[in-house]
Amino acid sequence: EEGKLWGGRFLTGSAKIMDQLNFSIAYDRKLWREDLDGSIGYAGALGKVGLLSKEEEKKIVDGLSQVEFLVFSFCRHLAGTDPIVESQIKTEWENGSFPISPSDEDIHTANERRLTELVGDVGRKLHVGRSRNDQVATDMRLWLKSHCQEVKKELLTLIKVSVTRAQDEIDVLMPGYTHLQRAQPIRWSHWLLSHAWAFWDDVARLKEMVDRILVMPLGSGALAGNPFAINRKELAESLGFSHISPNSIQAVGNRDFILEYLWWSSLVGVHLSRWAEDLILFSTQEFGIVKLDDAFSTGSSLMPQKKNPDSLEILRGKAGRFFGNLTSLYISVKGLPMAYNKDLQDDKIAMMDTAENLLKLLPVASGTLQSLKIDSNRAYSLLSPDMLATDLAYYLVRKKVPFREAHGISGKVVAMAEQKGKSITTLTVEELQSVCPKFDQDVKSVWDYGWSVEQYTAYGGTSRVSVEQQIQQLDSLLRKE
Ligand code: ARG
Repeated sequence: EEGKLWGGRFLTGSAKIMDQLNFSIAYDRKLWREDLDGSIGYAGALGKVGLLSKEEEKKIVDGLSQVEFLVFSFCRHLAGTDPIVESQIKTEWENGSFPISPSDEDIHTANERRLTELVGDVGRKLHVGRSRNDQVATDMRLWLKSHCQEVKKELLTLIKVSVTRAQDEIDVLMPGYTHLQRAQPIRWSHWLLSHAWAFWDDVARLKEMVDRILVMPLGSGALAGNPFAINRKELAESLGFSHISPNSIQAVGNRDFILEYLWWSSLVGVHLSRWAEDLILFSTQEFGIVKLDDAFSTGSSLMPQKKNPDSLEILRGKAGRFFGNLTSLYISVKGLPMAYNKDLQDDKIAMMDTAENLLKLLPVASGTLQSLKIDSNRAYSLLSPDMLATDLAYYLVRKKVPFREAHGISGKVVAMAEQKGKSITTLTVEELQSVCPKFDQDVKSVWDYGWSVEQYTAYGGTSRVSVEQQIQQLDSLLRKE
C-alpha cells in the first residue's frame, strides 16, 4: 500500500476512518528526537555486524541528522518560538519538503519515510531486524528519562524554596492541627519542612525509578529478538541506557515503566494537593496566616473584592487528572496478551499529559510559595491556652506523676477552666492545686508557647535545634544533587 511500511500483503488500502483512529502521529511526533537518536544508534549497530557498509551507515546517520533538523524546525514552528525558522518552514510547506505528511502513520513511519526521501534506497535498510515494537518502547524510555531530569530539577527547586523559607522564618509559631482541630504549637518552618520532606522522598523514588526506565528494549524486534547478532550492550551504552532487557517478549509487551511513572507522578500530585490544601486554608480570612501574591491569584468576574487562590486550586485538582491517566493505562494493560498489542498505543497520551502538566505545576508551586507573605503576628495570635494542656500533663510527669494520671489531671483542669469561664492559663495556683497538690508556682513556666515548642528537641521535632537539623540535612542533600 502506498506510503505504508507494511503494504505487501494487502490488496486494498485502509479506510480513511480507520486511518483516523489508527494514526498516532498527532501525539507521538513528540518522540521525534528519541526516535532519531535510537535510529542513529541502531544504524551504528547494523554497521558493526556488516548489515550496512561504512558508507551506507554514514549516509543514513547524516540523513537522520538532516531529518532531525527538519523535525526540530517543525516543532519550533508549532511552538511558535522562532520567526526565522517559521518562515523557513513556511517555505518548506510551499515547496512540499515539509517533513510530516498526511500518510505518516506515526513518528517512526514519518522519520523512515523522510530519511529514505533524503538519502535514497539505503534508507530502506535501516529497519532490518527492528520493529516499531522495540523502537517505540525504546523511544518512550528515552523520552521519559529526559523528562525525569527536568522534573527532578523542578522538585529540587520547590524543596529549596521551602528550606530557604524555613531558615528565614524559623521564629514564626503557629497552631499545629490534627483532625483540623488545634493540637499543639509548632514552628511554621516545621510545617514547611513536613511537605519538603515528602517532596524529597519523591526525588529519592524518582532516582530509583529512572534506573528501571533505563533498560533498553531495542534489539528485541517484534517479539522474538534480533537474528543478526547485534551488540545490544554497546548499543545501550551509546544511547545512554544502563541496562538491556533480558527477554524480548517482555521488552516489547510491558509498559510497567510508564505505569510506574504515572503512579509516581500521582503520588507527587497527592503531595502537591495536600500542600496546596493547607495553604488554601491558611490563606482564608478565617485563618489569615498567609497572603498569596497577586501574581499567583485571580479575581472574580462578579465579586470585586475577591482574590482567589487559583494557583493552589489547580495544583490540588491536577492530582485527580494524574490518577485518571494512571487508571486509564492500568485498565488498558490489564488482561492484555503478552507482547505488543495496539491497545498500548495510547500509553503516550497518558504519559505525555501527566508529564506536561507536572512540568507546569511545579514552577507554579515554587513561585506561589516563594512569593507568599506569612503574617507571623496573626499566626501567633491563633495559638490558644488549651493547646498547652499536653504541656501541663508533661509538667506533672516531670514531677514524677505517671503520664496516664497526669493526662487525667490536665483534662480535669481543662474542664474546670471551662466551667469557670476561664482559660487554663488564668487559673490560680490554688485552683490548680485543688485538682492536684503537685502543682506549684513554677507552673507559670508552662504558659509559654515558645517554651512549649522548645521541649521537642528529639530528632524530628519542632524545637529550634531539631528544625535547624532538618534544614541542614535537606540542604546537604540538595547540594549533592
Ligand atoms: N504507533 C505504534 C505505538 O505507539 C508503534 C508500534 C506499532 N507496532 C505495531 N505492530 N503496529 O504503539
